[in-house]
Amino acid sequence: MSSGTESSGADTANSPLSVEEIKVAALAALTVAGSEAVLDEWRVSYLGRKSDLTNVLRSISSLPADDRKAVGASANLLRASLEEALAEKTQELRGAAGSVADALDVTLPGRRRRRGGLHPTTQTIRELTDAFGAMGFQVAEGPEVEWERYNFDALNIPAEHPARDSWDTFWLESPDGEGRSDMLLRTHTSPMQARIMEKADPPIRVVIPGRCFRYEATDATHEWHFFQLEGLAVDKGITFADMKGTLFEFARRIFGPDRKVRFRVDFFPFVEPGAEMAIDCFKCNGQGCSLCKGTGWIEIMGAGMVHPSVLRNVGYDPEVYTGFAFGMGVERIAMLRHGIDDVRQFAAGDLRFLSQF
Ligand code: PHE
Repeated sequence: MSSGTESSGADTANSPLSVEEIKVAALAALTVAGSEAVLDEWRVSYLGRKSDLTNVLRSISSLPADDRKAVGASANLLRASLEEALAEKTQELRGAAGSVADALDVTLPGRRRRRGGLHPTTQTIRELTDAFGAMGFQVAEGPEVEWERYNFDALNIPAEHPARDSWDTFWLESPDGEGRSDMLLRTHTSPMQARIMEKADPPIRVVIPGRCFRYEATDATHEWHFFQLEGLAVDKGITFADMKGTLFEFARRIFGPDRKVRFRVDFFPFVEPGAEMAIDCFKCNGQGCSLCKGTGWIEIMGAGMVHPSVLRNVGYDPEVYTGFAFGMGVERIAMLRHGIDDVRQFAAGDLRFLSQF
């Protein structure tokens, strides 16, 4: 059965231990050694003159010629690694003894672990989608790199339409390197209106949070990337009153039960009529203060009835279906609610800012 270095010792009671067996026993004993005195005993019994390892090394000459080389090599290797392990363990014990006494003051207060948290933008998106979710809206997401077709054309903004100037656009380079391609970084979340209507049949009630990009200079109220929350509801017989009711309820859920809302005419090519919605200032209750710049009102989103051309573009019959859409800046909502005065804080990555939320 067994022979040479792998001799198991099972043949006879006093056959010599194999190198492997010595190693296992030595390392096990070393692990539990807790003082330098014990280490000294360990050295004598595993590396000393009468140790099993020394015996193995001594007996090499009496081994069959074929085995000598292998046994010799592994025994020497083990000796070297046991010496190294001993040195390490000695270091460890000395180090521990020194540092425990000197450096550990058990009366010091513990160091608190910093807790991670959700980014204020993420928190706001969740609050907004929760508010609309409670009113029956689903949540969808879409691509940040978008086709010109969805970002503009499907939304009633053809090439050369002056309204394109309202969305300063990052265009992707064309693959041949000659000028721009027909892809861009979406300038708003509205392209998802078209994408969703193309895929689904009414009734539709959905909100779409997502990052948008605009090629413009940054300041306290402008970022080149930011989040929007888009909303879309389409069905038979949806009216402007449905939109007002929905957005009024939303404003109460997010800004408090006493809010009033105000709709004024605004223009977006993909809605008709288009509106801008404001709430009465929740800080001064409409009296006029620094937050509402003395007007008593705070604009929070663009909205309107989905334009018949947009419905036609996605294959809906505008004589049968109507709907409303709205879009708001997520950071703007967060800034209003938390009194944040610089939108650039959101992407600055400063934990002193972020950890307040
Ligand atoms: N997409 C518009 C913007 O970025 C907002 C909007 C969305 C307006 C939906 C009306 C309807 O300014």
